[in-house]
Amino acid sequence: MTVKNFPKGFLWGSASAAYQVEGAWDKDGKSESIWDRYVRIPGTTFKGTNGNLAVDHYHRYKEDVALMAEQGLKAYRFSIAWTRILPQGRGEVNQAGIQFYSDLIDELLAHDIEPVVTIYHWDLPQVLQEEYGGWESRQIVDDFVNYSAVLFEAFGDRVKYWVTLNEQNIFMTLGYVQELHPPKVHSYQRMYNANHNANLANALTIKKFREMKVPGQIGPSFAYNPAYSIDSKPENVIATENYEAFNSSWWMDMYINGKYPKTVLKALEGMDIHIDIQEGDDEILADARPDFLGINYYQTNTVAYNPVDGVSVGKMNTTGEKGSSEESGMPGLFKRVQNPFVERTNWDWEIDPQGLKLGIKRITNRYDIPIMITENGLGEYDKLTEDKEIHDDYRIKYISDHVDAIGEAIQEGSDVIGYCTWSYTDLLSWLNGYQKRYGFVYVDREEDDATAKLTRYKKDSYYWYKNLIEQFNKEV
Ligand code: BG6
Repeated sequence: MTVKNFPKGFLWGSASAAYQVEGAWDKDGKSESIWDRYVRIPGTTFKGTNGNLAVDHYHRYKEDVALMAEQGLKAYRFSIAWTRILPQGRGEVNQAGIQFYSDLIDELLAHDIEPVVTIYHWDLPQVLQEEYGGWESRQIVDDFVNYSAVLFEAFGDRVKYWVTLNEQNIFMTLGYVQELHPPKVHSYQRMYNANHNANLANALTIKKFREMKVPGQIGPSFAYNPAYSIDSKPENVIATENYEAFNSSWWMDMYINGKYPKTVLKALEGMDIHIDIQEGDDEILADARPDFLGINYYQTNTVAYNPVDGVSVGKMNTTGEKGSSEESGMPGLFKRVQNPFVERTNWDWEIDPQGLKLGIKRITNRYDIPIMITENGLGEYDKLTEDKEIHDDYRIKYISDHVDAIGEAIQEGSDVIGYCTWSYTDLLSWLNGYQKRYGFVYVDREEDDATAKLTRYKKDSYYWYKNLIEQFNKEV
């Protein structure tokens, strides 16, 4: 592996999200989010796990930042809980919420760690869900932009990198089609309308950012699973083209060019799905090119044609029992099948570093925009030894291979400005509990809050990344 492939100033980072790490779910004026509510519905998460305590980052952020500093981390991506800042979703600002993030940002900057702030990582105020149905109402657009403006005002002098929405494609499809996230709905019609509102919120937030002249860069983070065709049979290749259009270009074309792909619009018409595109929307959407595109990359998807009577939403593996996931697809169009050429994790996620290179190159060729890898990592079982060590060589291999792939993409012409691993500490995996671990830092807790010790231990991967950054500092 060579760090020489990476440009000077490259942001070697790591990431988290408020609900997954903070805990303190009802402290210091914070209100309930849709996730605080959702996890209480029996059967929604693995063993009923929730983020009430999480890894208590809210109270331990100094300890966590000290570990980052010792590791030499250059950037830390975290999200802000809307419910801490504006408990009513709008209106009165909760100073305690501002203070918490202000202190976290100062702590990072004091250790030369660049804060990368995600404005929205899925934890919508429950009050807005109840008042007008959250993302399904156009009222969300104003509320979201106002919330963002409060953040720009409070932290814009110190934060240079902003992520608007984390994985709009995931929270829309899991929330409105797969019934796995709140509001647990299965309706393509409702999904496409809610998604349109999210596009407007994203675009107008970028506009607001420019109007307020915040001295930084802004962009959304997209969960990109580049698609391969299972083989060269023409009907499978066409299915793959459709898959890429429905699942990727649908969002990325909008972010970068402000337009929905024509072929998908046409297909939706045929399905009797009508998006509420109002006068003036096209201009708003076309007017908001981001500075960079955040990419969360975990795996590729391999695709085959799916007959009209074929599969629809299949079961996802949220238990860690290898092989328990099912095929999923859109009947008459495409389905996702197993790739025979790659290994899978215990949660059936395909391990494919070259897929990251492919994704970066596709984006460069199609959109020519700087990319920040805002998430990439391996969720696995980790074992704390009696000597309090964690030998996660599988994670080192995973990250090392993905770093290589990024380096190659940069050498071949792509502009990648940073790499944030998922995740910094172990944390709550939304549907998979605490047993699916991603961190450089092991957190001593299982599913039950009552037995959580929350002690932090450095994994072998922590030291490996530390060395990589040291090597980069020396050689580049
Ligand atoms: C991304 C999310 O989808 O993937 C993270 O932005 C999430 O919040 C990560 O934790 C890993 O997914 P999971 O389901 O394994 O936690």
